[in-house]
Amino acid sequence: MKILLLTQAFNSLSQRLYVELCQRGHQVSVEFDINDRVSIEAVALFRPDLIVAPFLKRAIAREIWANHICLVVHPGIKGDRGPSALDWAILNGERHWGVTLLQANAEMDAGDIWATETFPMRQATKASLYRNEVTEAAVRTVLTAIGHLQQGGFEPEPLDYANHDVRGTPRPLVRQADRAIDWRRDDSQTVLRKIRSGDGFPGVADRLFGRDCFLHDAHHEPSLGGRPGEVIARSGPAICRATVDGSIWIGHLRDSQGAHPFKLPATRVLADETAHLPEAGGYPEISYRERSGVGYLHFHFYNGAMSRHQCERLREAFASARSRDTRVIVLMGGSDFWSNGLHLNLIEAAASPADESWLNINAINDLARDIITTQSHVTISALQGNAGAGGVFLARAADLVWARSGVILNPHYKDMGNLYGSEYWTYLLPKRVGDERAVRITQGRLPMGCGEAFELGLVDACFACGHGEFVSVLEREAELLAVDPGWEEMLAEKIRRRAMDELERPLERYREQELSRMKRNFYGFDPSYHVARYNFVYKVPKSRTPVTIARHRDLRRASDRIGKKRS
Ligand code: COA
Repeated sequence: MKILLLTQAFNSLSQRLYVELCQRGHQVSVEFDINDRVSIEAVALFRPDLIVAPFLKRAIAREIWANHICLVVHPGIKGDRGPSALDWAILNGERHWGVTLLQANAEMDAGDIWATETFPMRQATKASLYRNEVTEAAVRTVLTAIGHLQQGGFEPEPLDYANHDVRGTPRPLVRQADRAIDWRRDDSQTVLRKIRSGDGFPGVADRLFGRDCFLHDAHHEPSLGGRPGEVIARSGPAICRATVDGSIWIGHLRDSQGAHPFKLPATRVLADETAHLPEAGGYPEISYRERSGVGYLHFHFYNGAMSRHQCERLREAFASARSRDTRVIVLMGGSDFWSNGLHLNLIEAAASPADESWLNINAINDLARDIITTQSHVTISALQGNAGAGGVFLARAADLVWARSGVILNPHYKDMGNLYGSEYWTYLLPKRVGDERAVRITQGRLPMGCGEAFELGLVDACFACGHGEFVSVLEREAELLAVDPGWEEMLAEKIRRRAMDELERPLERYREQELSRMKRNFYGFDPSYHVARYNFVYKVPKSRTPVTIARHRDLRRASDRIGKKRS
């Protein structure tokens, strides 16, 4: 089928749908819903059999829905309506929530129902629920609806609040007043729920040391306490704030009135105000555990962004993992993202973004080199969540890459203002996929599903299981590898291969060549990288859809088609 994804952004959900639909042989094109004229034009150019709207903030133009089947992914149960579906579900402490696929009509979220799915709610941020449970359910509902369309004769169910299974109701936009924290009354669970309901966006508006800040990235603290509302400790990026029955950690803040009005580590935003506070154990961004000959290194970096200092700390933790008497090291990343490469927000906030970019890429490279040259252990990158740009190649630095099947990879840098990229990708990628495919992947700038990554050799194993199950499955496999009689041979073979590669071309040459190109990105005349980073960090809306995904706007393809017709 020809399927047009009409979406506000090519976000995790729309990327996953894109990958799943392409994989099933559908012809998929994407248009950003910038305004009615652009969307109508896209429909006219592509002439889709079906329009799917995975993530929309406005109603679809009548001209489109009146003439085409448009299915809208609503992150709510049957009957739920409104722009803050997940926010309310978290705030109201719903035990189960869902996704409903509605046919667009004149009334927002009130169209006929094509499919619906429910899932148990997890104690997690809105963004995490969206990237995991909502995305999985959305994919299933869209595939179900496509099945109905292909079979024909399906009648979608009109929304009728009299039906006993319609539990949802229309709800307004969540306002800051709805999630405002009353530090004198709210217990830790309530505070966590309020912050999670607005995380990633918009955060909870609050005041800290006389400054208006939005709170993000909240975590439970098991033992500390103090006067409710008071900031009592710091740890890594986070500050600890007392509640009526304990305290919570706040990892990130957005000071909308400040010089850098985007999300930054809390201890960076409040550096002066919190300098005197005691350092506590906090919630560790990096943690290590060991079992049955396997060391597991977790790095829960918010949004998968890895700053210079985070890379340095991770490198130390990796060195210490290597010194242990184990056989396998699993690089676990975080539960939502494995890594998204350079910490673009901290770079944007630096006195010299070019210098900070340089220091950051060198710190990632140092870590990548240590992983590549590890001779004592078999290393595995275990992708519980997505990885993008340098994060993908950092994962590939390990001997093996194992991924959960729903994971999406973006193994390319060019979208960030033609960034050349480093992390030894010029060594790692062609070696795995060959030169020709390496060019296609890095130039194509498309998201890649686990299945395709596996076929290309970018991923070594793909586990078809849910988010929760993945960790236990991979632990079992890693622990089997640690006792595998072939382990020594595997290690010997990798040492031999590395030595041969080094003879052919030293690792340092790859790094030098990549960094010479990166230097131009950071310090050269062309400001594209700095502009793209600014737009990314400040979330400047896109003014057009890239032709890499808006296939109906790809003039080259269009002229090919015309050429074929003529010949
Ligand atoms: N630095 C800082 N923040 C980052 C980041 C990075 N490298 N990568 C992602 N984020 C943040 C986003 O700003 C967003 O923030 P929010 O919580 O305020 O919404 C959040 O992580 C989720 O990212 P989003 O883009 O919404 O996720 P996605 O799953 O839709 O898209 C990517 C994933 C990887 C395609 C996209 O985030 C991306 O292009 N990141 C930049 C990668 C990059 O160029 N890194 C530098 C070169 S190594």
